[in-house]
Amino acid sequence: MHDGRYDRTGAHEEPVLPTDPHSCARPDQARVTHLALDLTVDFDRHILFGVATLTLACVPAARELRLDTRDLDIAAIHLDDDDQPAAWTHEDERLHLGRALSIPLRADCRSVRIRYATRPGAAALQWLTPAQTGSEQPFLFSQSQAILARTWVPCQDTPGVRMTYEATLRVPRHLLALMSAENPTALEPDGVYRFRLDRPVPSYLLAVAVGDLRFRALGPRTGVYGQPGVVDRAAWEFAETEGMVTAAENLFGAYRWGRFDLLVLPPSFPFGGMENPRLTFATPTLLAGDRSLVSVIAHELAHSWSGNLVTNATWNDFWLNEGFTNYFESRIMETLHGRERSELQAALQLHSLRRTVAEMGTDNPDTRLHVDLSERDPDDGVNDIAYEKGFFFVRMLEQRAGRERFDSFLREYFDHFAFQSIDTDRFVRHLRARLLDADPELAASARIADWIERPGLPADLREPQTAALEQVAGEAARLEAGTRPEDLATAGWITQQWLLFLDALAPGLDAPRMTELDRAFGISASGNAELLATWLRLAIRHQYRAADPVLERFLTSVGRRKLIVPLYKELATSTAGLARARSIYRQARPGLHALAVGTLDELLGAPTEA
Ligand code: BES
Ligand code: ZN
Repeated sequence: MHDGRYDRTGAHEEPVLPTDPHSCARPDQARVTHLALDLTVDFDRHILFGVATLTLACVPAARELRLDTRDLDIAAIHLDDDDQPAAWTHEDERLHLGRALSIPLRADCRSVRIRYATRPGAAALQWLTPAQTGSEQPFLFSQSQAILARTWVPCQDTPGVRMTYEATLRVPRHLLALMSAENPTALEPDGVYRFRLDRPVPSYLLAVAVGDLRFRALGPRTGVYGQPGVVDRAAWEFAETEGMVTAAENLFGAYRWGRFDLLVLPPSFPFGGMENPRLTFATPTLLAGDRSLVSVIAHELAHSWSGNLVTNATWNDFWLNEGFTNYFESRIMETLHGRERSELQAALQLHSLRRTVAEMGTDNPDTRLHVDLSERDPDDGVNDIAYEKGFFFVRMLEQRAGRERFDSFLREYFDHFAFQSIDTDRFVRHLRARLLDADPELAASARIADWIERPGLPADLREPQTAALEQVAGEAARLEAGTRPEDLATAGWITQQWLLFLDALAPGLDAPRMTELDRAFGISASGNAELLATWLRLAIRHQYRAADPVLERFLTSVGRRKLIVPLYKELATSTAGLARARSIYRQARPGLHALAVGTLDELLGAPTEA
């Protein structure tokens, strides 16, 4: 039944948040509502230093403020406007989580000021030399999700706590500073930049970037930043962005963040994209030259609703962020490019999901949508389960409820929980109250618990079906039956068709066949990083050695984890391959972000000092 506690029309009671196993904060006692940063960006020492002022909302009996920190050097803390420094304690380091900073409060305390500095190894931050950026200037960027904000800002680093923020950044004069906030489009002569974000967001959406950056407008509320060497290519590649915002609004309601700008990072950026509010961070590997990889932009835009507006309360509920976003991404792409293309993408997603579930094991509790990551790094939950099983779950709901009803459910959902964090349980109760309870037939057929609480893939998962998909399967079969590659009907194929073609061929491939394909289609010379990554994985598996130089160049120039980790994994399946992987990794590692290094050190072992 509908739970009245969470009814908007009911009492104005703040819902009780579930405890977040990845944060030491006690927001039920003292909660941060606003953050003001004043930081100097020191490229010589690779540190940020300055002051964070936190505005608090406390229950009357609150005696302590608990903050997450990791590798932060605390210089002094002051309560309110006190001149006298306050007492504080730094608790012991906990694996992945860092150190709790405990600050005793007095009654009616409204704010704390923390003077601190980051360390050169702060895991969120990557400091790049000019040689690593491909420009003449150094570069700094952050990646705070999931629990790395605490390595550059003392905060309640849990997605259950939201705050507004403002910041002053002092940077070298010839560099532009950007944040997940209102941004400049040109240099300030004194190198001092001021930012504000007046919508409350969780800490994982705090972001900063400093570099030799230029701006190009894309539309009235969209634009792109990038280094001089990429910004014009990026403006061309991402020309559809304004149309994506309009399409998204028509689907699921007003865009509530003002502008939607993009920042193209240097190649070491560890993700395809990151949905930092007002300023999505993107990998340069999206610049394929044919706009074929822009669904990542649609994905990050979709997070402006699923994620940034309605947020997973803990990382155990991560699927709420990513599953819904994948679904929403697919709807945006369908609106812009038609159902054929979005269904091709869905088919790729299903292949990837099946492979992942097979690898993890169908009984593995981590293949449940609602996972238990306590005692582990939440990074362990960043996999196809949250993304693709989540996606197929939401699609199943749409298919069963019908699009019209499901769309109005979603619009209401985003409105109802706007600027709140919810957990899986609360979502399910809302789903029942607003969609299932009124329709017993739907409630009986949609096996919610199977999807959310059971491992593996439910039997009612529906296969995407389109003409383009069948055509790809047909051509793959023809090749296998002896047709020469150049005689296949591949004219006009888009990237997603090529990817599916390779997926279809994968089981029967060998080196001679790869040689033939490469001769006919020049795949090893492709400028499309997604295609190249898939191809190179097959090259490793089938010992197609002609691709070796391409593989090495790829692994030493790309830092996007989703593209490089599968290649290292494939190499690591043989003894000789593992040695090669380690030798390439030794060269690549200094240029990678801590998040990629963490994953790869675990896979290959941290290289020992020479
Ligand atoms: N928010 C994620 C990236 C992320 C997740 C960073 C968890 C750290 C921890 C982002 O929206 C994302 O999903 N990126 C994908 C894009 C893809 C699914 C279209 C990526 O980077 O590959
Ligand atoms: Zn995402």
